[in-house]
Amino acid sequence: MKRVIATAALVVLAAAFVFAGGNKDTGAAKQLVVGANIYSFADNFMNGVMKPEFERYAVEKGVKIEIVDSEGQQAKLNDQVDVFITKKVNVLAINLVDPAAASAIIAKAKKANIPLVLFNKEATEAGAMASYDKVWYVGTNSAESGIIQGQMMVADWKANPAWDLNKDGVVQYVLLKGEPGHPDAEARTKESVKAFVDAGIKVQQLALEADPNWSTQHGNDKMAAWLTSSFGKDIELVICNNDGMAFGAINALKAAGKKLPLYGVDALDQALTHIADGEMNGTVLNDGVNQARATLDLAINAAKGLPVTEGTAWKLTTDGAKAVRVPYLPVTPKNYKDFQKK
Ligand code: GAL
Ligand code: CA
Repeated sequence: MKRVIATAALVVLAAAFVFAGGNKDTGAAKQLVVGANIYSFADNFMNGVMKPEFERYAVEKGVKIEIVDSEGQQAKLNDQVDVFITKKVNVLAINLVDPAAASAIIAKAKKANIPLVLFNKEATEAGAMASYDKVWYVGTNSAESGIIQGQMMVADWKANPAWDLNKDGVVQYVLLKGEPGHPDAEARTKESVKAFVDAGIKVQQLALEADPNWSTQHGNDKMAAWLTSSFGKDIELVICNNDGMAFGAINALKAAGKKLPLYGVDALDQALTHIADGEMNGTVLNDGVNQARATLDLAINAAKGLPVTEGTAWKLTTDGAKAVRVPYLPVTPKNYKDFQKK
């Protein structure tokens, strides 16, 4: 009897598998396939926040997503897109390695007549987005993160006169920039510092370093070098364009037995812990979960030939950028608990 039930259960399971599109030969509704990449699996925000949500949300939506690692090489990504096209995926969800190399990817998608959603790294070439009617972008308004980070730093600076170590009324800062040419890195660098200037506070940049990988190792190495440099004792503020680099800077500060005001962007779980421990003064939520959902929602609609935001809460910008921009939020010692996973 038991065996009969077990067999029956297996049959039901097998039927469910076919129904879900597991069997390609029956003519049953085929599961939609999304060909996707992450510019580098070594990036802790992309790999730790966006990739798992892509995988989870694809299951929720009943689609298949294949995510490959472009290992920080645009040439590799170009080849991966060719493979996806040969495999006849229904739609592409692409995280550019080089933001100035979108047109090559867009041209490939256009030639194959496959819709394309670019995400996280916005194309910087003028006219690239307009060159194909089936390409969209999902990301953020890059400047917003720098503005929010800048406003947090200005408020804290004003509230903590002791932070002006040499009492000259000027903020002596170092800045970990991230990937040069990346719209997020460029806008954050500009806007965070501009917030001080707009508030009438003078700033002096002691050092700035870029890193295409936005990595913790880079943050650690640069901060360690700065601390032992001729201006090491003059540093009053550490501005990090992402949390990954901030974690490295925190390590270097700890190793040197120092503590300085330090800010990041992304609001990774580890950043929330550093805020709780008083090792980080603030970060900015880069909402990768909603960026992943919006990317998949648009991709699925595009693959079905529907208007991309149909049946979703996402709104396309009206500026011709064909973009969905997910808002950033300030994360401070006062509100970080709201962002910790329950
Ligand atoms: C940014 C993020 C960085 C890094 C980068 C990669 O949005 O803040 O941590 O992941 O994207 O393109
Ligand atoms: Ca000063």
